[in-house]
Amino acid sequence: MTILTSDTLTLPAPLGGSLVNRVRHLQPGETAGLPTLELSDRAYADLEMIATGAYSPLSGFLGEADYRSAVSGMRLADGTPWSIPITLMVSREEAGQARGTVALTRAGQPVGLIEVSEQYTPDKAVEAQEVYRTTDPAHPGVAALMSAGEVYLAGEVTLFDVPRGAFPAHHRTPAEVRSVIEARGWRSTVAFQTRNPIHRAHEYLQKVALELVDGLLLHPLVGSTKGDDVPADVRVKAYEVLLDKYYPASRTLLSVYPAAMRYAGPREAILHALSRRNYGATHFIVGRDHAGVGSYYGTYDAQEIFSAFTAQELGIQILKFEHTFYCKTCGQLVSPRTCPHDGSHHLVLSGTKVRELLRAGEDLPAEFTRPEVAEVLREGYSRQ
Ligand code: ADX
Repeated sequence: MTILTSDTLTLPAPLGGSLVNRVRHLQPGETAGLPTLELSDRAYADLEMIATGAYSPLSGFLGEADYRSAVSGMRLADGTPWSIPITLMVSREEAGQARGTVALTRAGQPVGLIEVSEQYTPDKAVEAQEVYRTTDPAHPGVAALMSAGEVYLAGEVTLFDVPRGAFPAHHRTPAEVRSVIEARGWRSTVAFQTRNPIHRAHEYLQKVALELVDGLLLHPLVGSTKGDDVPADVRVKAYEVLLDKYYPASRTLLSVYPAAMRYAGPREAILHALSRRNYGATHFIVGRDHAGVGSYYGTYDAQEIFSAFTAQELGIQILKFEHTFYCKTCGQLVSPRTCPHDGSHHLVLSGTKVRELLRAGEDLPAEFTRPEVAEVLREGYSRQ
């Protein structure tokens, strides 16, 4: 890891130079008579990510040239790094209706617009293989890709108001996160992506990083996740109790990241990092098997893939951490870099074991999960 010069760092420029902003209020009667398209959870999340600038420089869903270039070479057609194609997938019937300006709806109510500039039919098997490194339908990202519509609509979008419904206190656009960072005077900010409750290993990574940078942006993904991940409302409650008791308030910001999870491992790690740059982070944590699922990716693939780009292209510094766990003999959180003892000294619990204990109403070892967090998780499971 490079030694950081936190007194010289400032907010990073968004990817492409400026933050995209395509959010405005719906004008009365504006969508009357337009063709409509009902959005899935994932497409609605992508609409928000694009329109608020979280996916700058994208101002719409990808056209075919950008799509092909992103799939095969992890770049947009102009060379900008972009590792996961952001596409609007619709059925043939929907595509047939989608001409010109189309009103995007949720439960029938207009939430935005797309100016349809292109329609194309991708080869999803190629996309799955390149982006997810597998075509296995058991992979949740591949399953979502394959079950969505077969035609892709491209075009610039507009969002009518940011949907802050579920977590109003923690829902901030990239511009709003940037304002908080500026107001707090952080000259360097490390972002932490997560789709899980914060266990002690996560806390360790964050706090090691916080020894080196001014602020921590705790940025949990709250878009759709696979069925057995802990629901976002339970996680957010757990983050709140943890931050309240164990983190310095002036140096931490809990803010939600509205995107859907793709489980694309290495490719998604790049997207996660680029997007956090748009939110104003100077540093991004990538630990073991970032955004992974099952055994589709090697433990450190999501770290190695960053070598496809120069530091300047990324514009955000990647803090890479090895697998971290509690060592009973060291009496602390460690990794293979800092602990000389073998596995018999280590406390390692699988996700399955953790879920089993929580469902049975039992405690998790305090070295694995803070009791306050375990309590929130147990409550969450008892509701199911
Ligand atoms: S992820 O899908 O969002 O990556 P998770 O919430 O589990 O899943 O991980 C958040 C971040 O912490 C990722 O960068 C991941 O690599 C890292 N991480 C999680 N657990 C560990 C661990 N025990 N050791 C090292 N890194 C970890």
